[in-house]
Amino acid sequence: MSDEGKRIDGKLIAEDVVARVAAHTQKLGAEKNVTPGLAVIIVGEDPASQVYVASKGRKAKECGFHSVQHTLPADTSEEDVLAHVRALNDDPAIHGILVQLPLPKHIDENKVIQTIAPNKDVDGFHYMNVGKLGTGDLSTAYVPCTPAGSMILIRRVLGDDLSGLSAVVIGRSNIVGKPMANLLLGANCTVTIAHSRTKDLPALTRTADIVVAAVGRPEMVKGDWIKPGATLVDVGINRVDAPERGEGKTRLTGDADYEGVLENAAHATPVPGGVGPMTIAMLMANTLTSACRHAGFDEPDL
Ligand code: GUN
Repeated sequence: MSDEGKRIDGKLIAEDVVARVAAHTQKLGAEKNVTPGLAVIIVGEDPASQVYVASKGRKAKECGFHSVQHTLPADTSEEDVLAHVRALNDDPAIHGILVQLPLPKHIDENKVIQTIAPNKDVDGFHYMNVGKLGTGDLSTAYVPCTPAGSMILIRRVLGDDLSGLSAVVIGRSNIVGKPMANLLLGANCTVTIAHSRTKDLPALTRTADIVVAAVGRPEMVKGDWIKPGATLVDVGINRVDAPERGEGKTRLTGDADYEGVLENAAHATPVPGGVGPMTIAMLMANTLTSACRHAGFDEPDL
């Protein structure tokens, strides 16, 4: 069926966020003579990571940021990576530090993340920011980009007041599921976190006004899992075989059967073109927010 009127256009909304970030960056420059600086560290040659990092750099330039990338060989020692992070922590031109994950096996990812200065942790993975989000101190926290972007998509279709809505988050990762649940809880939703051990998941999701799918299982959420009129946010990005496109071809798909979900949902995000573009837009937003906080300037309203 046509998704007209039901599709939450993440690409368009992300463009709007990026345009607001660029405009606010200009104001910050004009009034405080500060340019937001984003540093990305990538270790090794994982092709998917290279693609992500290149697009982050492009988007940062589009926003008018100072953007630097440190590409380190796969055999870089943990101590060297930590030294890079510490140097960026001390660099006044840098407001946001992102270490692209995954890191090579010999490097302790958590140790690297916890070495990033919490007030430059634009991924929102440092314990300090996890704790602030968990306790509701959003005015000084950095919120992980994918859940933050998902909240903007939800609010664009349901409005700012989500009070009393029931939300089911499928997936309990530290990067998406848990922070997403905390954001929805902070917005006064009644939140359930579901996972691989949850009993009768379809019955649970059928009670929800908002379903967020973040499990990494292609097209797991079916149309009849969704209550009529509900909103579905699909965080999954799965590459699957697409023999219909020719031998050896693949395509991207989400954690939900988008066509099926549209039968019941009032609003749903497609994959690609839903949450994905919002993640990178929110990285820009977090970097600008950090620059504003460092400079004592108004934060952007996104
Ligand atoms: N690799 C895949 N997603 C992410 C992310 O959100 N942040 C970082 N740093 N690395 C990633």
